[in-house]
Amino acid sequence: MAEIREIKKAETSGKASIHSHITGLGIDESGKAKFKADGLVGQVEAREAAWVVVELIRQGKMAGKGILLVGPPGTGKTALAVGIAKELGEDTPFNMLNASEIYSVELKKTEVLTQAIRKSIGVRVRQKRLVYECVVKELKVKVARSRLNPYVQVPREVEIKLATKDEDRTLTAGDTIAEQIARMGIRKGDVIWIDAETGNVVKVGKAKGLEGAKSYDIESGRAVDIPSGPVKKEKELTNTFTLYDLDMSLAAQSISLTAVFSLWSEREITQDVRKQVDSYVKEMMNKGMAELIPGVLFIDDAHMLDVETFSFLTKALEAELAPILVLATNRGTTKIRGTDVEAPHGMPLDLLDRLLIITTRPYSEDEAKEIISIRAEELDIELEPQALEELKRLASENNLRYSIQLLEPSAVIARRSGRNVVKVDDVKEASRLFSDVKRSVKYVKEYETLFLK
Ligand SMILES: Nc1ncnc2c1ncn2[C@@H]1O[C@H](COP(=O)(O)OP(=O)(O)OP(=O)(O)O)[C@@H](O)[C@H]1O
Ligand SMILES: [Mg+2]
Repeated sequence: MAEIREIKKAETSGKASIHSHITGLGIDESGKAKFKADGLVGQVEAREAAWVVVELIRQGKMAGKGILLVGPPGTGKTALAVGIAKELGEDTPFNMLNASEIYSVELKKTEVLTQAIRKSIGVRVRQKRLVYECVVKELKVKVARSRLNPYVQVPREVEIKLATKDEDRTLTAGDTIAEQIARMGIRKGDVIWIDAETGNVVKVGKAKGLEGAKSYDIESGRAVDIPSGPVKKEKELTNTFTLYDLDMSLAAQSISLTAVFSLWSEREITQDVRKQVDSYVKEMMNKGMAELIPGVLFIDDAHMLDVETFSFLTKALEAELAPILVLATNRGTTKIRGTDVEAPHGMPLDLLDRLLIITTRPYSEDEAKEIISIRAEELDIELEPQALEELKRLASENNLRYSIQLLEPSAVIARRSGRNVVKVDDVKEASRLFSDVKRSVKYVKEYETLFLK
């Protein structure tokens, strides 16, 4: 059985930045949505439904099930998905994907989907480890010439005085630990863990009120209590990885050096690697050392998926290790991509049957106004009351997203006139410069004969 060593966490993308004001679903203790909370405004029924979904996910009752968010453009479907992700917290994987991303040039659709599914399933690993948990009292790192490159000095050995409230101990360690300590910038007064078997070093934080340690006004890292009890002890550590993290880590160990240099992350992970990871995870689960956390796979603009992808997803929902599928669409009845068949939301009925549907409705003028002002605040843009009124009017005339998109251009225009506050004329100017969809369609119609066909 392959051993899973150092595991890298998958990066989360910053795609959600137009939703950066959203910090949750804004629900009170009784499960009711507050009109305005956690950056969300209105859309009360949909938010309450989303909250039920969050509770079901937390109770582990949603695995292999799906949600479909349906509503007109700009009514907060993606925003709701972000809210769900925030409520679930860091420990539950939430993987966001736009349907178009499945059609990558480098990878097969099924590979992209499989990776996405495996990024959406977490494994919480509990391990009892023998660790040194202590505060660093003194640190002496000895450097020596590198064996690989005699021109550089590398940490070779470290002598650390370690302490808890109750015990003092001095430890001498070799280059793996010395190197980590140097790289992590560990200093006197830091609380650290050293894994007794692997030599992995973890920095926990700064010790509160350690005698003789310097204290700074601005300190990076959180302040933690000085550990008590013996320096060396058994500790239970928990870590959450996604199946994808584990796949990558196992694959990285078995690939050849040439593959490393040819950007292998764009490559397929072999089925064999996945099988090994699955059986490893199952074994850990049987031993009670790991538990599965079904996370969320969110696919935005799901009407762009094709018929093969839909059937792949339907099947994936029934697999043993299945994520929770959340889809969003703004289409009514449309053709299922790759076929001539019209279907609700462009989706096959056998998939639709398995989904709970949450609908979002268009915003009232006042709701739109609130949302625009939240966005303005988030972007540090100060709006004169009339400017906000104008944006509200534009939102009801066109759609909310148009008004939100005019915020930054309006601010640029205001700054050009040496102002920090956005006035109504700046908004009007921005809206003159940047067309809304209705206007651009009308424009194209007018000059139809001049456009390429
Ligand atoms: N209820 C809400 N409260 C706060 N902000 C919202 C709300 N609804 C939408 N927004 C914000 O308005 C903008 C448009 O909403 P969003 O992108 O979620 O719409 P959508 O329904 O996903 O539209 P589309 O169908 O075009 O994808 C985003 O910046 C979003 O964060
Ligand atoms: Mg959206």
